[in-house]
Amino acid sequence: MTAFLCTGGAGFIGSGFVHRLLARDETDTVTVLDALTYAGNRANLPDDPRCTLVEGSVCDAALVDELVAGCDVVVHFAAESHNDNSLNDPSPFIQTNIVGTFTLLEAVRRHGKRLHHVSTDEVYGDLELDDPNRFTPTTPYNPSSPYSASKAASDHLVRAWVRSFGIHATLSNCSNNYGPRQHVEKFIPRQVTGIIDGVRPKLYGAGLNVRDWIHVDDHNDAVLDIIERGRPGTTYLIGADGEMDNKSVIELILELMGEPADAYDHVNDRAGHDLRYAIDASLLRDELGWRPRYTSFRDGLAATIDWYRGNEDWWRPTKAATEAKYAAKGQ
Ligand code: NAD
Ligand code: DAU
Repeated sequence: MTAFLCTGGAGFIGSGFVHRLLARDETDTVTVLDALTYAGNRANLPDDPRCTLVEGSVCDAALVDELVAGCDVVVHFAAESHNDNSLNDPSPFIQTNIVGTFTLLEAVRRHGKRLHHVSTDEVYGDLELDDPNRFTPTTPYNPSSPYSASKAASDHLVRAWVRSFGIHATLSNCSNNYGPRQHVEKFIPRQVTGIIDGVRPKLYGAGLNVRDWIHVDDHNDAVLDIIERGRPGTTYLIGADGEMDNKSVIELILELMGEPADAYDHVNDRAGHDLRYAIDASLLRDELGWRPRYTSFRDGLAATIDWYRGNEDWWRPTKAATEAKYAAKGQ
């Protein structure tokens, strides 16, 4: 019987975590602290008396202090999460990702609570396409965008609070997630919902950039394993050996949706676009025995496409405004 505080629990990955947590154990409860930004949606949360939504910011020190005091375990998902937005306006990324994490850490320190910090592989920068190495927990930090730099800063704060103040925290850095309830600004949902609307997919630049895809449920299972059995102060990398270049992902989406594989357009590239991410998840696999359940990206993607086809009411309200932002940049 554990009382969880889940920041950012109304977003894509955080809401997946809440669903898995409550399905797994009948006695756990979860309080979701979420600012309900454009990326947060209360409809993402389960209709369950054990789940309570508190609308507010991780930067609100008084609110965070009260909620941390009342829980057993804090799981920190809340963030501004989209690279393209961070290039348009870095300011909220500094506030939420850095100041918000600092605010949470101070409350965790005061109340002696267990924390898991959710982060990204982007803190390590990018790899050449032919680099035989993948990211490991000892890869030097080298972030490229305002988003990834703000996440790197948040990781450094957590590590410093572990070393200097002895807080009981773990960290995880995961690769690109896909699955249900991902905002239509992100690569896969953008293309899938575009095709449903008869709009051709948009590939940044030549599309040779590689991402290491993992299903959101596999990410959240790893987070649960780390919370239960991870060593204090340890960073675990989460990835499912899912490297694929963007062009191939678009061709697969088109094929699965019954369209010609070349029915897409090249658009302006992202400034500072990272070339390749690749995760070595050996520590997670060897120490905690985690294994991904979604071993076929093709099957996971087909199920994700079905979810967007069946949940138009969920994504339709945000689609036009999201596309207007892209159009302004020729993307
Ligand atoms: P998301 O944008 O879908 O959700 C973020 C959530 O945080 C939203 O519900 C939003 O309302 C909330 N939020 C934003 N600012 C807040 C604030 N100041 N206070 C409280 N809540 C706030 O993001 P996501 O893709 O679900 O990512 C969740 C976490 O996982 C982030 O920390 C991200 O860096 C990390 N991550 C994401 C991926 C990925 O592929 N999406 C991969 C690795 C790590
Ligand atoms: O690696 C983990 C990160 O993955 C997370 O930390 C981020 O929160 C998450 O957004 C994601 O970052 P990316 O920038 O890799 O994801 P995005 O979905 O924005 O883009 C994936 C790739 O697709 C990237 O190379 C850019 C490209 N792209 C994106 C869009 C939106 C396109 O080619 N066309 C598009 O329309």
